[in-house]
Amino acid sequence: MSDGFVARSLEETSFWSRIMKEHSLFLGLGFRAEDTVLIKEANHFYRIFEDIERRVHSFSLDVDPVTIQQFNQEVHTAVCHIWAFKRKVLGLILSCKLPGQTNFPLLVDHVSREANYFRNRLEELNQGKLEPLYDAIIDENVFFLRIMADHAKFIGHLLDPSERKLVEQAREFSQDFDQLLFQARDIESMRPQSQTGPILNQFLDQNRVSVKSLRDFKKTARDLIDQCRIKSIIHPLLADHVFREAERFLEIIDMFENSLTGKGNNSMIHH
Ligand SMILES: [Fe+2]
Ligand SMILES: [Fe+2]
Repeated sequence: MSDGFVARSLEETSFWSRIMKEHSLFLGLGFRAEDTVLIKEANHFYRIFEDIERRVHSFSLDVDPVTIQQFNQEVHTAVCHIWAFKRKVLGLILSCKLPGQTNFPLLVDHVSREANYFRNRLEELNQGKLEPLYDAIIDENVFFLRIMADHAKFIGHLLDPSERKLVEQAREFSQDFDQLLFQARDIESMRPQSQTGPILNQFLDQNRVSVKSLRDFKKTARDLIDQCRIKSIIHPLLADHVFREAERFLEIIDMFENSLTGKGNNSMIHH
């Protein structure tokens, strides 16, 4: 097993298990009062990921890697189950079986994509699979830019329509990130020829500027919601949740930037 396997595993699981726990809460809140079975299922996943989170924090870094490999496998199974639950809910919503529930279909799809991402991450960690740096840079950015574009759309639609200025700002972020996503997909389709140091460097720089400004917007929104200064139907925890995901994307961009400038062409990393 590679160096840093334990630290990397615990770090990923610590971040994403909290995210999965909160998704369960958001899904649960969006169901109708009569959807008791779905609410129970959501609560069940909440407890599962709450427990995983607690266990992650109980491990120390000198734990036997085999223990963590087994733990990753167990978390992987839980993530597969919550992914299936999210896709089932999406199916129910899109076939109009839950009229009046309040989670947007795109949000349900979005949280299932995040579960899928976490699941892949756990597989890569356990298999010790290393993705070449230049591929990782493109794949991670394509994934996260879409996540950011979705967040801007959710915020825009969950703010009260009377918050005209903020709704407009959210719409601008949505367009900015849609455009960045298209650019990222262009670079993706031009690979491997697009995978030069200067092009990827510029790609990261450009994305970083927009992610920082969206991160700041989310932080402001979160604080305004906490202080009850704006009108919206955004759960305070959702505001913090999307802020943390932007922070994570920024950390990943910085990590890539360091690998690009530090290690050169052939570096392979666990991202
Ligand atoms: Fe999320
Ligand atoms: Fe998200």
